[in-house]
Amino acid sequence: MARVFSGIQPSGELHIGNYLGAVQNWVRLQHQHECLFCIVDLHAVTQPYDAATLRQRTLDMAIGLLAAGLDPERCIVFVQSHVPEHSELNWLLTTVTPLGELERQTQFKDKAQRLESVPAGLLNYPVLQAADVLLYRASLVPVGEDQLQHLELMREIARRWNTRYGAAFFPEPQALLTTAKRVLGLDGHAKMSKSLGNTIGLLDSPELIWEKLKPAATDPARVTRKDPGNPDICNIFTIHQGFSPPETQKQVATNCRTAAWGCLDCKRVLADNMIAALAPIRERAAQLQADPARVHATLRRGAAKARALARDTLAEVRRRMGLLEGATD
Ligand code: TRP
Repeated sequence: MARVFSGIQPSGELHIGNYLGAVQNWVRLQHQHECLFCIVDLHAVTQPYDAATLRQRTLDMAIGLLAAGLDPERCIVFVQSHVPEHSELNWLLTTVTPLGELERQTQFKDKAQRLESVPAGLLNYPVLQAADVLLYRASLVPVGEDQLQHLELMREIARRWNTRYGAAFFPEPQALLTTAKRVLGLDGHAKMSKSLGNTIGLLDSPELIWEKLKPAATDPARVTRKDPGNPDICNIFTIHQGFSPPETQKQVATNCRTAAWGCLDCKRVLADNMIAALAPIRERAAQLQADPARVHATLRRGAAKARALARDTLAEVRRRMGLLEGATD
């Protein structure tokens, strides 16, 4: 069975963009493959961040993932820093990573540009990401298009290590792109992102969902109530495709094109469907929030399972790289 690995930053709130674009797919994948899903706190510290809230954001992300349907009996859910082997493999892989490739990563260039002083850890980000996946010798990596360059570099790192230390030890991981159309932020321009404040949270209350949907951007050509709209370029319609049944989607599209409905009519239907779809997730989250000890215990069990796999890989990596045996723990 192919092994799947993916990671998500501990941003705290899981939003509907994460859910429709990634997490919903993870929930499906756990029934088809052996899956590991990791909250990547070691990646989160490569950029300026608030140490005082990282713990809570990590816990909240875990609650969001479990509430959304990741089942710890079917997949391994864990926190990256709980498995120190990620850091060790990261170090070993830096020795086969071409510096030029790191400097060419567009995500690095974008992030570095905004910083006065660029930490080496930011440059190293994709090596840690390669370590995440290769540590479990995973071959499938569900990610968005923005991660394809990191995936290409990950394959390069695997190839170089294999060439030097043992053919085909690491599989070359493949990206699994979701077919879901990408949801934009409520502004209709930028991607949905917590730091931009343009999200609908997976755990938002029905009142808040409606409050946020009401002013959300639609087809900009639809200026008055009588103008026909184009669902194909409307972010609200994209969200309908995530939450409304196919018949409703058809009805919405027709009523938009003929201006039978105004945008508010369309949004009301969306709000109802979204609120209904998210109700069981909110309920599970409330139970988990009331029992943080249970969440901690789930993460501890996840880390123990991941660590057992990680140790096997790392023992073989150390052996092939000629490191003297005798490490304790
Ligand atoms: N860089 C990824 C992101 O920002 C998160 C991530 C870290 C990841 N390690 C990973 C994704 C390993 C897939 C596999 O979305």
